[in-house]
Amino acid sequence: MHYYIGIDLGTSAVKLLLVDEAGIVVGEVTTEYPISFPHPGWSEQEPADWWSAVLAGVPELVSGVDANEVRGIGLGGQMHGLVALDERDNVIRPAILWNDGRTAKETDYLNEVVGRDKLSRYTANIAFAGFTAPKILWMLENEPDNFARISKIMLPKDYLVYKMTGVHATDYSDASGMLLLDVQHKRWSKEMLDICGVTEAQLPRLYESWQAVGNLKPDVAAAFGLPESVLVCAGAGDNAAAAVGTGTVGAGGCNISLGTSGTVFISSDKFGVDPHNALHSFAHADGGYHLMGCMLSAASCNKWWMDDISNDTDYSAEQAKIDDAKLGRNHVYFLPYLMGERSPINDTNARGTFTGLTMDTSHADMTQAVLEGVAFAIRDSFEVAKSLGINIPRSNICGGGAKSPLWRKILANVLGIPLDMVATEQGPGYGGAILAMVADGKYSSVQEACKALVTVASTTEPDPALTQLYDDRYGQFKEIYPAMKGLFARLL
Ligand code: XUL
Repeated sequence: MHYYIGIDLGTSAVKLLLVDEAGIVVGEVTTEYPISFPHPGWSEQEPADWWSAVLAGVPELVSGVDANEVRGIGLGGQMHGLVALDERDNVIRPAILWNDGRTAKETDYLNEVVGRDKLSRYTANIAFAGFTAPKILWMLENEPDNFARISKIMLPKDYLVYKMTGVHATDYSDASGMLLLDVQHKRWSKEMLDICGVTEAQLPRLYESWQAVGNLKPDVAAAFGLPESVLVCAGAGDNAAAAVGTGTVGAGGCNISLGTSGTVFISSDKFGVDPHNALHSFAHADGGYHLMGCMLSAASCNKWWMDDISNDTDYSAEQAKIDDAKLGRNHVYFLPYLMGERSPINDTNARGTFTGLTMDTSHADMTQAVLEGVAFAIRDSFEVAKSLGINIPRSNICGGGAKSPLWRKILANVLGIPLDMVATEQGPGYGGAILAMVADGKYSSVQEACKALVTVASTTEPDPALTQLYDDRYGQFKEIYPAMKGLFARLL
């Protein structure tokens, strides 16, 4: 029996999965690491923490199997983060993450001075604060000495691939989120490189997600307790990897991820752009493309509300207080913009709020408002997709938040569509393992692998009466942000 390792390099933890060639998950190791918020709206991590978590986790993961049967490693990683290396491949500064909002000025410069039309022509996307290009400009302006030392720029999971293989590589799905890639033609955009003051030599080499980049370096193989023959494929951005893990490949599939971020991922076999660029137009890990809306705080809103504010880690007990009679009838609303917001409003100043509190409002009503606020914000991206004529009759769902039956029910009714959970719900890690199987030749394509390995285990159906109630509530939710927008800009 052959085994494959899927690495999900997340924002709060790295999750390692050991998957056998039949697609069964036989081992799992999760290691958390810190995230720092050095200023409101900034977020950073130490790449060394990601690597130590992998170094410590892999030996434990493979301890129960014959190491010689382990064949490949594939990764799905948090997207957009800026990892800058000097000429000796040392990390220059902590990675600036996907949900970091420090680049409002650089984002405005790109969108307003360079111009949205040009950006969209060069890359198929406009600038969002979390994307990599505005971060490069931020470094140039604010840390010129650090900028001058940059020898290589890479994305978070690419740093792990580099540590394992010694190769500077990235894949098209993750590179799409840098705003440096000509997504349609799958090549670096010379215009964008000039705008950001970097050269192609400073960027990693581009691969398809399922292509092998190299094998384990001898010292890494020894530390992992694995043979040097283990291949490492390029992997994918975590959303594309999660889409692979839920079988959302080819034309017309949808996957919703309720992780730290919340995403709506619409796969396509053809390149396409949202004319207003509210949805990102990125390459997929199956060789095709996808449109994606990304909200910056999804399951993290509930985590913040429960862990930090309520001092209560029993999420299920709290959610058990929210019975069916309460659904669709909550007059408390929550705006989930705890880190500003990306899709579709693109506003780094946006902030979280509770609205509609009364003397009889309970803690559970506020918990419900948090779950509903995230669902409504997911619907915002969903509505953009619908306005482009995209029909989404059903969707897969994955991520930590999707484990809550209540949250799935709320979301199915807010969107008015059935939500499918696949048997293995560790989206990005499972997707990474599938990519490694394709790299190893077990399957001839990502689509073929998904067809063989991914099955739907349960479906949450919407209820028409509840969908109607939520439709009305969504109408009210939609009015809150425009009413607050002007004030948010002055709350700094
Ligand atoms: C996608 C995005 C997030 C991160 C989370 O554009 O920024 O979903 O990839 O890890």
